[in-house]
Amino acid sequence: MPWLAMRNKNDEFYTQYSDIETEMNAYIEYNPDVFRDKTVLLPCDDPEWSNFTKYFAANFNRFGLKKLISTSYARSAGSKQLTLFESESPLYDEKKHKSSGKLFTLTRQGESKVDTDDIKFSGYLKSDGDFRSPEVCHLRDEADIIITNPPFSLFREFVAWILEGKKEFVILGNMNAITYKEVFPNIKENRIWMGYKSLNEDMYFNVSDEYKKRHRYHDLQANFHSQEVK
Ligand SMILES: C[S@@+](CC[C@H](N)C(=O)[O-])C[C@H]1O[C@@H](n2cnc3c(N)ncnc32)[C@H](O)[C@@H]1O
Repeated sequence: MPWLAMRNKNDEFYTQYSDIETEMNAYIEYNPDVFRDKTVLLPCDDPEWSNFTKYFAANFNRFGLKKLISTSYARSAGSKQLTLFESESPLYDEKKHKSSGKLFTLTRQGESKVDTDDIKFSGYLKSDGDFRSPEVCHLRDEADIIITNPPFSLFREFVAWILEGKKEFVILGNMNAITYKEVFPNIKENRIWMGYKSLNEDMYFNVSDEYKKRHRYHDLQANFHSQEVK
């Protein structure tokens, strides 16, 4: 379980592909079958902005995954943008696009190679996609492994939610989280481990244009090490 340096309380920080790759490569190197025949849930991760979804879709065959489930939160920066996955689907609904969480899936198709383009928009969630909603809890219970960079402001709740599900997981968090009562006893009891990436290394995140407008650029450089978003 990686705990990586994150220095801001804003929830709209998007993880870079290279960081996900570095972390997952370490697990694959240790056990090449770590994801084989597994259902992986990526909550808080719409495929347009989330590199977690892109990474696992691109590596779906190589990892031997059984199913990839990705949900997006209606109020997230990524979810507000209409993706081709959604707009070209017969399930597309303009009203629900704004208010509902979204469900994306990718399933094994025999021996055929699947990729990012094969991610399927599987419809709207009844709720806004909050990870605590009954639907997302149900998806948690269906999954074998849960992976994400959760909203920083709800980190404690997210850890409690994930532990309640009793599933394997990889989540990205702030170094201070080590001291949380939801976390420290589990580290002590060897139920949660630190990730591969060194705690001394800075991490860089993508942020929205809206976020950049609200913050002076030099603040971004000095405090958050954020990079330009596409
Ligand atoms: C730190 S960002 C990370 C996004 C993505 N997982 C990544 O790593 O690139 C956290 C995401 O969780 C979303 N979020 C905030 N509150 C949420 C909630 N209650 N349930 C689910 N997602 C939430 C945010 O809008 C944001 O998109």
